[in-house]
Order: sequence, then structure tokens, then C-alpha cells
Amino acid sequence: MGPSSTLTTVLAAVLLVPLVSSTYSSANFFDEFDLTWGDHRGKIFNGGNILSLSMDKASGSGFRSKKEYLFGRIDMQLKLVAGNSAGTVTAYYLSSEGATHDEIDFEFLGNETGKPYVLHTNVFAQGKGNREQRFYLWFDPTKNFHTYSIVWRPQHIIFLVDNLPIRVFKNAEKLGVPFPTSQPMRIYSSLWNADDWATRGGLVKTDWSNAPFTAYYRGFKAAACSVSSGCDLEFNTSFGDGAVQVAEELNAYGRMRLRWVQKYFMIYDYCSDLERFPNGFPPECNKSRV
Ligand SMILES: *[C@@H]1O[C@H](CO)[C@@H](O)[C@H](O)[C@H]1NC(C)=O
Ligand SMILES: *[C@@H]1O[C@H](CO)[C@@H](O)[C@H](O)[C@H]1NC(C)=O
Ligand SMILES: *[C@@H]1O[C@H](CO)[C@@H](O)[C@H](O)[C@H]1NC(C)=O
Repeated sequence: MGPSSTLTTVLAAVLLVPLVSSTYSSANFFDEFDLTWGDHRGKIFNGGNILSLSMDKASGSGFRSKKEYLFGRIDMQLKLVAGNSAGTVTAYYLSSEGATHDEIDFEFLGNETGKPYVLHTNVFAQGKGNREQRFYLWFDPTKNFHTYSIVWRPQHIIFLVDNLPIRVFKNAEKLGVPFPTSQPMRIYSSLWNADDWATRGGLVKTDWSNAPFTAYYRGFKAAACSVSSGCDLEFNTSFGDGAVQVAEELNAYGRMRLRWVQKYFMIYDYCSDLERFPNGFPPECNKSRV
């Protein structure tokens, strides 16, 4: 490499740094997360680009974001436990602290080899959850990384998988339904044993001969407001790629995709569980009003 190309490289680096740091790029796990549980079972490697959690018979593992967020869009790519993952749960969620905490959940319930994972979602506000929707996925989530996103705005929470909206939970405070609007949340994830309930309601137990079980994370991006550093510029611009105008409602394409996912892949919706709500559904379930 000659001097002029060295100069070009240096100039390019100097000129590009501000651009790169202001675009919506993946962050480094060392900078953004702490491994909080499971000793050596959680790892950050590849220069901070990949994180893995694993579980053996003695313990699972988990991590937590250093920052606390109050609204934003948070993307993470996950590759779930492969093979016979029955009994394992990979939880990935936002949560505040305390008895009246708020929480926005993705939970991935493992299964026997070749049988479908279940993606369980829930929203807690003021300590109260009970707003489950469950889905099958339209791909094998153990073969490749897929992006799971939470869009959390004062007017709604949108869950996305590979940028397709799978669930919208609207702010129905006007109907007296609490909504997370004031408690900052951290990002958490953990891989743990839940074979008392996870797979076919607890019928299929974890097969420890397959341990350790491992899930992988990469491509973390947050366009958010954090308590420590304020709002990212990206938070205010709509950077959805056609499926979602993040600043606004779902657009027509987003609504169409949402209907597709809910029609073909949703396997449980609390808003249509008559056994559970024989005397009428919670007010946020009234689609014509909310
Ligand atoms: C596991 O597979 C069974 C049988 O196909 C299915 O009923 C169940 O929903 C799947 N997922 C879980 C988490 O039990
Ligand atoms: C984002 O929008 C909010 C209110 O809509 C405003 O207060 C804030 O200054 C904006 N931030 C940026 C970085 O544009
Ligand atoms: C649902 O909303 C409609 C339109 O506002 C209203 O007429 C209806 O009474 C509501 N139903 C329930 C169960 O609240």
C-alpha cells in the first residue's frame, strides 16, 4: 500500500466515522450488555458482535442491557436452540423494575426436533399481564438468525419478526387500560428450563443428554430514547422499510402482513378466549373502539 492510498484510507476513515456512527448500525455487545446470570454459560465473542447463552443441567444464563430505554425501536437477531429443544425457553424482553413493573415479552418455547417452536408474546403494564398471543413461525428459527423487533411508542407497541408486524398492542388508556408510558425498561434475555409448562403444556421434558443448549444473538440495534443519553435521531425518523412507518400507524402493507400472520400463524389470542373471559373480553380487545 503506497502513501497516497494510506492517506486516502485515513481520510476515508475520518470522513466516514461521523456518518457511520449516526446511522442505524449494529452495536457492540461488550458496550451495551452485561452477562448477569449463569457464570461462563453466557459469552460475548467475535469482537463483541455475537453473544451466546447456554444452559446445562446446573443452570441457564442471561444478560441485561446497560441502558434503560423509554420508547424506541429495538432490533435483535436470534438463532434459537437447535435440535431437541423441548423444555427450554429463550426469553427476550423489555422490563422495568418493581411490583408495578411494565414488560414487553417475546418468549420462544422449544420443541422436539422437527416440531414447531412457539413464539409467546405478552404485555404487562402496572404489574398486570395476561395479554398473551402465541404464534408459530413461518420458518425454522434454529437454522438461521432472524430479526425480532419491538417498537414501543406512546401510542402503541408493535412486535415484528423479520420486519413483519405480528402483533399491535394499542394504547387504550382512554378505556382505562394501563399502558407502559413512564417506567424506563432494560432489555433482558435468558435461556432457562421450563419443562414444567413450556412444551405441550409440560408434557415433554428437557432431554439433558442434549445439553448444553445454546442460543445466539447478533445485530443488536436500538433507535430509542435512553435514560442516560436521550433520544437517537433515528427514533424520530421513520426507518421501517415499507412494512411499518414507525412514527405513525401501520401502513396498508403492514396491516395486510399483520392480517396474514394472525390468520395463518396465530395459535392463541387472549382476546378470543371465551373460556377465560365468559363475561366479556377486556376493553382493549374491542377492535372497533381502540
Ligand atoms: C410442539 O409440537 C407439538 C406437536 O406438533 C405442538 O402441538 C406444540 O404446539 C409445539 N410447541 C410447543 C412449544 O409445545
Ligand atoms: C424527537 O421528537 C420529540 C417529540 O416528538 C422531540 O421532543 C425531540 O426533540 C425529537 N428528537 C430529535 C433528536 O429529533
Ligand atoms: C365496542 O366498541 C363499540 C364502538 O364504540 C361500542 O358500541 C361497543 O359497545 C363496545 N363493546 C364493548 C364490549 O365494550
